Amino acid sequence: MMQVKDLHVKFKTHKGDVHAVRGVSFEIKEKECVAIVGESGSGKSALAKSLVKLFPENATILQGEVIYQNHNLLAYTDKELRKIRGKEIGMVFQDPLTSLNPLLTIGFQIKEAFLRHFPLSSKKEAVAHTLELLDLVGIPNPEIRINEYPHTLSGGMRQRALIALALSAKPKLLIADEPTTALDVTLQAKILDLLKSLQNKLNMSILLITHDLSVVAGFCDKVLVMYGGKIVESGSVDSLFETPSHPYTKRLLLSKPRLDMQRDEPLVPIDGVPPDLSKDILGCAFCTRCTSSLKICGLQEPQAFEVREGHTSCCWLNKT
Ligand SMILES: Nc1ncnc2c1ncn2[C@@H]1O[C@H](COP(=O)(O)OP(=O)(O)OP(=O)(O)O)[C@@H](O)[C@H]1O
Ligand SMILES: [Mg+2]
Repeated sequence: MMQVKDLHVKFKTHKGDVHAVRGVSFEIKEKECVAIVGESGSGKSALAKSLVKLFPENATILQGEVIYQNHNLLAYTDKELRKIRGKEIGMVFQDPLTSLNPLLTIGFQIKEAFLRHFPLSSKKEAVAHTLELLDLVGIPNPEIRINEYPHTLSGGMRQRALIALALSAKPKLLIADEPTTALDVTLQAKILDLLKSLQNKLNMSILLITHDLSVVAGFCDKVLVMYGGKIVESGSVDSLFETPSHPYTKRLLLSKPRLDMQRDEPLVPIDGVPPDLSKDILGCAFCTRCTSSLKICGLQEPQAFEVREGHTSCCWLNKT
């Protein structure tokens, strides 16, 4: 469905260039759910937005390709991309209040998005589709809610409305950038369950971006762990949770509560700070925070070593 090849993205700032995405490659298959996990500032949103060239003016794609159905999206003009965004690739971002227009009812926004991509449909069809979508995402009384403004909805309902908006043009791929971060834990689980059931019903692929590794188990097929603008470990969910191989992934797992934890088992934060992406990084970006680093780690960047079939880790400790 989508193949990302050696993508590099840079932001120009008054303090110098921030090289936020540093050579990322991965692939999303049809009906597959892929998660990108990493700490704040690791480049997840920069990566997600570059896939559909939805980024601020100070951003530049230095190199790379995003192949979607045999075409490189990065070579598309803005006009061509507008036909892809929403229609082929839907997006849900972190903050529903800033993503929804406060001056328009949620029904109007969903209806308009549908009509933009299916201009031959009638208004009646658009209303019926909107009601169906509101119902699908679990908004009660859609006939009433269709006329409500975003500020009158609770946080959870707003996030559902945003998902309905992203699904309005029946996309084949949904990019969800921290869709549940602003919500409490119970709502988080409900929204993820909703996404999962919609994925099955609508046969979509999902790219889920999150800083929380624990939410991806049971939800995704594949996990990409991002650190310092790069994918440092990738594999199937089962393989990655069974045999986490990169020291960063191991530390991420230890820093989050788990169901199988002992009562007195402490959570272990990762000491140190993430790398400054405005600087060149020599060797492995995690080296300064890693408790098992070798001499080579600070000198030479590790390539992706295969630890199991389809599971790779960019760590010198995994070199056989
Ligand atoms: N518009 C921008 N201008 C300049 N630098 C930016 C811009 N957007 C992001 N950056 C920088 O790019 C790097 C990656 O940011 P990004 O937002 O992609 O991180 P993230 O992994 O999504 O973090 P979070 O989990 O907090 O959302 C950071 O160093 C950030 O400061
Ligand atoms: Mg982000």
